[in-house]
Amino acid sequence: LSKPIKNICCIGAGYVGGPTCSIIAYKCPHIQVNVVDLSQERINAWNSPNIPIYEPGLNEIVQKCIGKNLHFTTKVEECIEKADIIFISVNTPTKTYGVGLGRAPDLTYVESAARTISKVAKTSKIIVEKSTVPVKAAESITNMLKSNHQPNVEFQVLSNPEFLAEGTAINDLLKPDRILIGGDNNEKGKWAIGQLSSVYENWVEKSLIITTNTWSSELSKLAANAMLAQRISSVNSISAICEASGADIEHVSRAIGFDTRIGNKFLQASVGFGGSCFQKDINNLIYLCENLNLKEVAEYWHQVLVINDYQKKRFVDKIVKCLFNTLNNKKITLLGFAFKKNTGDTRESAAIQICKYFLDEGALITVLDPKVEYEQMILELSNPQLNLPIEMVKRKVQLCSTDVIEACKGSHALVVCTEWDIFKTYDYKGIYEIMQKPAHIFDGRLILDHEQLISIGFHVEAVGKKLNNQ
Ligand code: UDX
Ligand code: UDX
Ligand code: ADP
Repeated sequence: LSKPIKNICCIGAGYVGGPTCSIIAYKCPHIQVNVVDLSQERINAWNSPNIPIYEPGLNEIVQKCIGKNLHFTTKVEECIEKADIIFISVNTPTKTYGVGLGRAPDLTYVESAARTISKVAKTSKIIVEKSTVPVKAAESITNMLKSNHQPNVEFQVLSNPEFLAEGTAINDLLKPDRILIGGDNNEKGKWAIGQLSSVYENWVEKSLIITTNTWSSELSKLAANAMLAQRISSVNSISAICEASGADIEHVSRAIGFDTRIGNKFLQASVGFGGSCFQKDINNLIYLCENLNLKEVAEYWHQVLVINDYQKKRFVDKIVKCLFNTLNNKKITLLGFAFKKNTGDTRESAAIQICKYFLDEGALITVLDPKVEYEQMILELSNPQLNLPIEMVKRKVQLCSTDVIEACKGSHALVVCTEWDIFKTYDYKGIYEIMQKPAHIFDGRLILDHEQLISIGFHVEAVGKKLNNQ
């Protein structure tokens, strides 16, 4: 029997849970939406004028709904009990220990959320996995819930992966390409799918809501991200050929994109993809293939990551070579540290590995990024895997949020790592004057006017191009 959904609880107030639930609250005034998190600090931030993530348009929507039908709280148990539908949007990092190290997803947080649900739920619930999880995770969640639940309580577990991209999350949520819901292929499963679908139908056309079994849904999410990442590695691999041959990657991408079978999106050559999803999901996929004894398939996807690392290394090698094979005590200015524009998120950003290579070469780095916070940047660069002593990092890496002159004064090279629009608007004539000569620009995002920069006097190098420097 379908009943109107009145109350939703979302466990995890992060990059996925926060924006998704804000839009649900905004579009469904008749539904009470509680977003819960263990971190008091994060919840406090959501309840303050400075919400904890920068996402264009999000703050306006949060302020419209907060206190009405959108609530951020640490009262996890109370909100679970009241909910008809519970979203699990906790983090699923790659395991840093034990079996599957560096490959398998760490389900610690998913498991703890499931255990809390089974402990406190006194009425039947629909549980929705929103975090990207391995294939068959819904089955594991079901088993965890089954073995602990209270009498007369039933759980239907659905997979409803989120496809939003950071920086465009609001538009992606308001106008999704599709909503994907996976569930059990039986009466109860279909009923649960219908219930969740009814929430989305408040603003998404029914034809865009596609349903399938749980495993297909889980695998679709991994496959979608893997194929997006693969496109970037494919273009980046072609960019290496362009630099060596004199072809121009922008012209090649454009020509390829006109083929409607290929399409023109996601063909931007870059210094390498970053973000919390692509690398993690490909690692999950590789781990899955290995467990299924599909060695060739695992190798195929692994190559996407190999090319991504190669792209960063290639970029840095070119920089070192242009700077006369030494960066020792040279000031280098990094334009951008976030993994893409319009976000302050730095997870897996290409800039991290690039800074690592620069620091190994003895460079002094000044980062210019409008949204990244100093503490976050230092945290990334002191990740044990990079093997950089934190004191050294703090001594050698500075952050400027907006002061372009300060960031570029005395610098040997500007290195574009993030495609922030504001970088296009700078007065490069003025910047040239205050830099060391020869002044270099390395455009890892193809956003600058290279001919104009060369005419100012810069030596310019760009991904996927051979430029006519004087
Ligand atoms: C991605 C997927 O797009 C989204 O559907 C999924 O839900 C989560 O993972 P996100 O990581 O937020 O989203 O951003 P995305 O726009 O996909 O960019 C990922 C990385 O690829 C960024 O570093 C971006 O700069 C890079 N990129 C993207 C390119 O280098 N070239 C391109 O053409 C596109
Ligand atoms: C291809 C290109 O499509 C065309 O643009 C180019 O000019 C020549 O090469 P063709 O080889 O004639 O054309 O046929 P195509 O339709 O591309 O199919 C190639 C192979 O891929 C076939 O064996 C086809 O069955 C297979 N295929 C195609 C798939 O297995 N799956 C698909 O989704 C599409
Ligand atoms: P994502 O990008 O997937 O949204 P984030 O790391 O931004 O990931 O957010 C996940 C959030 O989930 C974090 O704020 C974390 O504190 C929260 N979280 C993790 N485990 C639990 C749990 N068992 N109960 C409540 N919140 C949790």
